Amino acid sequence: MEIFKTKTALRAFLEPLKASGLKIALVPTMGALHNGHISLIKLAQQNADVIICSIFVNPTQFTDPKDLEKYPRPIEHDLAMLEEAGCNGVFMPDVKEMYPEKEDWHIDLGKAEFLLEGEFRRGHYQGVTQIVNKLFDAVKPDVAMFGQKDFQQVLMIKNMLKHFNLPITIITCPIIREEDGLAMSSRNIHLSEKDRKNALVLSKSLQFVIDHFNEYSLSQLEEKAEALYAGIEGVELDYFTIANGETLEPAKSKEEGNLVALVAAKVGTTRLIDNMIIK
Ligand code: PAF
Repeated sequence: MEIFKTKTALRAFLEPLKASGLKIALVPTMGALHNGHISLIKLAQQNADVIICSIFVNPTQFTDPKDLEKYPRPIEHDLAMLEEAGCNGVFMPDVKEMYPEKEDWHIDLGKAEFLLEGEFRRGHYQGVTQIVNKLFDAVKPDVAMFGQKDFQQVLMIKNMLKHFNLPITIITCPIIREEDGLAMSSRNIHLSEKDRKNALVLSKSLQFVIDHFNEYSLSQLEEKAEALYAGIEGVELDYFTIANGETLEPAKSKEEGNLVALVAAKVGTTRLIDNMIIK
């Protein structure tokens, strides 16, 4: 597995491979890898010939400097996991390589930018699309893999692709869960034993909606799912919503084609997100 710290070195590696007709996949990450990321690598291997994983903790997408500071960076462990998974190359630039100078970035990502996560983390998706665009430019992949756990992120990245008319196929991978239902996340490492137990309410509340979808109205489903959070000490619900999966607006009717239940909550000091596609 090759490791690249600069765009120049990465491009020099990729150019002859592309010229020989090989298909390139990019798996963008911020490191602190878990089996969810490895599932992205595995799916990439089914869709391309050469797999590049990027590891870059992107400062412009953090709205809280403390969150950026405490973001886990277990690089040796990450590299061992990628090697084992058969990844071909890792791009791990430093901040100067990606942001050589101060730059302004603002693109129109549509109304959905300001809903849900966008309401709690203003500017987050501008930072995400800024770095993903830079990574796309460095790798020029044919396909790029993203996890469904960041449902809104995938939507925003697709909107960014439309904005620049980029010829890249986005493949979304299903959420990988622990045996008890907790969605895998790099942030789970910050959960205390008690938080870890409390965090199960996220997947349970989503599963409640899936299991009882035909029994209750949309507002009853949301109310009952939200009620599961009441009285859990140390868990603060930011939102629980059943939304249209294309606009992220609250669903108006069960008959809408593409429905998803999404949740965000602070568990202890860690903010977690999760979702389940209803249909
Ligand atoms: O999902 C993530 O890990 C990040 O938001 C991404 C897509 C790698 C951009 O920094």
